[in-house]
Amino acid sequence: MSVRLEIAGKTAYIEHIIFVQIKRTDERGTLRVTNQHYLKQTKDSEYAFVLEGNNELFGTGALAEVGAHAHHLGMRRVALYTDPQVSKLPSLETVEKSLRDRGIRVSIFTDVEIEPSDRSLKAAIRFAEEDAFDGFVSIGGGSVIDTCKAVSLYASYPPKHFLDYVNQPLGKALPASGPLKPHIACPTTFGTASECTSVAIFNFVELGTKAGISNRAIKPALGIVDPEALKTLPAPVVAANGMDVFSHAVESYTARPYTQRPAPDDPTNRPVIQGANPISDLNCLEAIRLIGNNLIEAVRNPDDFGAREQLSFAGLLAGIGFGTAGCNLPHGMSYAVSGLVRDYRATGWPRDKPLVPHGFAVIVNSPSVFRFMGPTCPARHLEAAQALGLVDDGRLPGDLLADGLIDIMRTIGVPNGLRGLGYGDDDLDALTEKGWKQRRVVDNAARQISKEEMREIFAGALRYW
Ligand SMILES: [Fe+2]
Repeated sequence: MSVRLEIAGKTAYIEHIIFVQIKRTDERGTLRVTNQHYLKQTKDSEYAFVLEGNNELFGTGALAEVGAHAHHLGMRRVALYTDPQVSKLPSLETVEKSLRDRGIRVSIFTDVEIEPSDRSLKAAIRFAEEDAFDGFVSIGGGSVIDTCKAVSLYASYPPKHFLDYVNQPLGKALPASGPLKPHIACPTTFGTASECTSVAIFNFVELGTKAGISNRAIKPALGIVDPEALKTLPAPVVAANGMDVFSHAVESYTARPYTQRPAPDDPTNRPVIQGANPISDLNCLEAIRLIGNNLIEAVRNPDDFGAREQLSFAGLLAGIGFGTAGCNLPHGMSYAVSGLVRDYRATGWPRDKPLVPHGFAVIVNSPSVFRFMGPTCPARHLEAAQALGLVDDGRLPGDLLADGLIDIMRTIGVPNGLRGLGYGDDDLDALTEKGWKQRRVVDNAARQISKEEMREIFAGALRYW
């Protein structure tokens, strides 16, 4: 077997490689074997990564246990959050009954908006302040869980000003003053992985922008991931969420390595998002493999519960992965794609207002990003492509991964790039302007890009077939 090696744009084929690894000796002469991708860059570079607790319960039927876990966490008076759609599903009844069976008093807020605004979030916070709740339960998609995460923070330690907890530069990103009242998050879809991250996103209507709250304290005390809820998920929702999971996994795997960040001044306060690291790598490669093996079948055949169950697990794996590694360009650019929507409406989502489902807003950027960033870390793109089930046929790894993804997009009915969502050449400047502001995610790419390069990537994402 020969191995293709690319150095400075030149291709060479090497016939015999037995094993390549980097060996170094430390100051005491001890031999250390280092993964080349994670070579420490300078003496001040980061050299450690941290995996903080993920309390996740996964299993078909697990939703019925919510009452037992809530009781165990000390909840006796619960505010239960959901949205108008989920409030009509049997899952809500399951949760409510399970809580009441344990003697827990329950008040239900059903008005969380999809892609919640600050108005929706403030209404949810007011609801929490109306009674002496000692815990929160959320059941729904990412919008519901994000809202409840923010509620648990605002209701536990009301800030002086609403923006105090919001990320800079919009807000002050203040930490919580202590532990929050517990929150159990029960996703009814898959992919957002909101149940295992410390981030909540909402639309700040006045400023016409997405705003985030990144705060260690808001990670739910427990996530209950029950694939049963996926049985009734419409095929387009499975397609969009599967694409979101896939991009979480690839973006984390190709993110800037943690060793390319400066070591923290305070070792007890490492950032939530650290960049690619060996633990997120394991999760993300397996998530890509599960997507490759199950997504098309799960979209085509709603009766194949096994495929949907595997997707649910892939969503959890990728969620834990990007919860430490962080996403990069496709997600950073997605905020512009969803934020500037004119009249796109998708089958399977509420059609009362224009809306680009999150998974579509992300994945329309991904093939163009992979082509562009492939040469920066070809080995990572090749490994991701192989995990998806693609065979190295000599194409550049970024192109191989992009082409494989485009095939899947066409097969499962994803819009054909930005044009498929109603954008054209005239929108490239506005998209770039908005995408460029998402510094936290854009800076997590394997290499720094310029604003002109982001425009070029958006241009490459206009149409794929
Ligand atoms: Fe996402």
